[in-house]
Amino acid sequence: GGVTPPRHFLELSDFDAPTLRRMLDLAARAKSGQLKDKPLAGKTVGLIFEKPSTRTRVSFEVGVHQLGGHPIMLSAKEMQLGRGESVADTARVLSRYVDAIMLRTDSVAKLRELARHATVPVINGLTDVSHPCQLMADVLTFEEHRGPIAGKVIAWTGDGNNVAQSFIQAAARFNFTLRLATPPELAPPAQLIDWARREGATIELTSDPVEAVRGAACVVTDTWVSMSDEKDGGPTARHNQLAPYQLNEALLAQAAPDAIVMHCLPAHRGEEITEAVIEGPQSVVFDEAENRLHAQKGVLLWALAGL
Ligand code: CP
Ligand code: NVA
Repeated sequence: GGVTPPRHFLELSDFDAPTLRRMLDLAARAKSGQLKDKPLAGKTVGLIFEKPSTRTRVSFEVGVHQLGGHPIMLSAKEMQLGRGESVADTARVLSRYVDAIMLRTDSVAKLRELARHATVPVINGLTDVSHPCQLMADVLTFEEHRGPIAGKVIAWTGDGNNVAQSFIQAAARFNFTLRLATPPELAPPAQLIDWARREGATIELTSDPVEAVRGAACVVTDTWVSMSDEKDGGPTARHNQLAPYQLNEALLAQAAPDAIVMHCLPAHRGEEITEAVIEGPQSVVFDEAENRLHAQKGVLLWALAGL
């Protein structure tokens, strides 16, 4: 018999809907204190960051600890990885020490390379093209506030970035309608949208934020300048392109009266979202941030505890 492959958590598109649901159920059970004590006892999880992080870093470290495991924070800069040791060798060495590896990286190719060579589960902690842990938290948050997400209309306004791309994958797996308003030059990749549509998702793409937001149950935005954009062509051009997509009170007024507002954070008040909206009664951004902790526990329990 062959070796069972590790339970990587790389992209939402890798999973069928029931498996993602199982992770969310585990998340909800972890959140409500229904799990047995210390399901990750004796397990060590390496957390590699090539880029800054507040939520991902702290929620993974605290989450592993609360489940009885041991987290190890690893800044790529301080590893040999940061001075040229290959991802493949890093994967094989770390697999001899730790029980799972989380990676935040600028390059999805590195994540895939790590997963290809690791013999322990690899978890995507954000890449240039995806942020699946964020989406698990976002679906959990939506459902806590508004019930089942299937059939609901979620609107995205702004950059067609990594988080937007994971929203597209989530729409296919959790069966919500996703309307994205982005400048045409910053639209998510056509092949990803084609994939989602082939999977049966309803994805509507427009350059008009009002059209996207009209009647929506949830409105989401994110920074105009993602970490992977910081190197290219100064932020000013992006700011000009994205200014019409700001999530402000006038735009939010087009959504359903009880629409909720999400943002993965960190936020830039006065840019992609206004102070009035992020601090307003419809905003659930801090519940959403908290749910990173719970959602990731669901992922960890699926990957490591055989649940
Ligand atoms: N939302 C999110 O991933 O935040 P961090 O960059 O702080 O981890
Ligand atoms: N789109 C943002 C998300 C940060 C959590 C970025 O990649 O910088």
